[in-house]
Amino acid sequence: MGLPLIIVHGGAGAWKDDRIPIGLENVEKAAIAGFQVLEEGGSALDAAEVCTLFMESCGNLNAGAGARSNLDGVKELDAMIIDGSSLTFGSVAAVTGILNPVSLARYILEKTDYAFFAGDNARRVYEQMIAEGYREETGDGIIRSPIDFETGDTVGCVTVDSEGRIAATSSTGGISNKMPGRVGDSPVMGAGAFANEVAGATATGWGEHIMRVLLTRMVVLHVEQGSSPMTASEEGMKFFQEKTGSEAGVVAADKNGNYGWSTNAKAMPTVVISGDRTNIEKHLR
Ligand code: GLY
Repeated sequence: MGLPLIIVHGGAGAWKDDRIPIGLENVEKAAIAGFQVLEEGGSALDAAEVCTLFMESCGNLNAGAGARSNLDGVKELDAMIIDGSSLTFGSVAAVTGILNPVSLARYILEKTDYAFFAGDNARRVYEQMIAEGYREETGDGIIRSPIDFETGDTVGCVTVDSEGRIAATSSTGGISNKMPGRVGDSPVMGAGAFANEVAGATATGWGEHIMRVLLTRMVVLHVEQGSSPMTASEEGMKFFQEKTGSEAGVVAADKNGNYGWSTNAKAMPTVVISGDRTNIEKHLR
């Protein structure tokens, strides 16, 4: 426990046994990249973007370069980033032709009067972002990370900086065999992720069902009402399972650096780094 803190997951699902170590390795690298930003005095939002950029770029997780394709064989991406300290978010849905939607989501949050763009017009906003120099590309649709790094399912993280500000992200290619235009929970505030000044949470799993119970808003509400993030995650997943019978996972953290996670899936590679980096925890579920 302690600040700063990052908790990262690489997606809950029926991971093949030989894929689990690869997933965990990439989640750990993403957590280290995000934690480095926090150690260097970056904000929770900066760290959440860098961590998620890594997972989108690694090609081994269901986001960005590694995202599943839709039934047309196209990567149609959903992503969100939330600044808990201002209760603001940026989201993109069903965007194509780019590989790092988390940076576009942050641009929408910080530089537009809106919060959520979809489809071809989301890509037009991306082109505006590049033209304005908000982020630089290293290749078509690939954003240059502010720090160098080597380069399942939905990915996401919750970060808490040394001032106790919280950010959360989610990014995904969506579920297998999705119809073109289908959008899941990942860009939906309170479903795929949620953060405020008390706590943050991000979810993974079957989006149609996560949206029915607003899983991450529920987990954060439990923390606001006195549960630890671990108990809140377990309570949230219990309710989700009872109401939907579906599969998901959630990770959460509060402003004091307490954290938790829960899943009913076979695996959800999860890494937590906090304090002075002596505490690196890895969990398979
Ligand atoms: N949780 C990702 C999705 O359902 O799209």
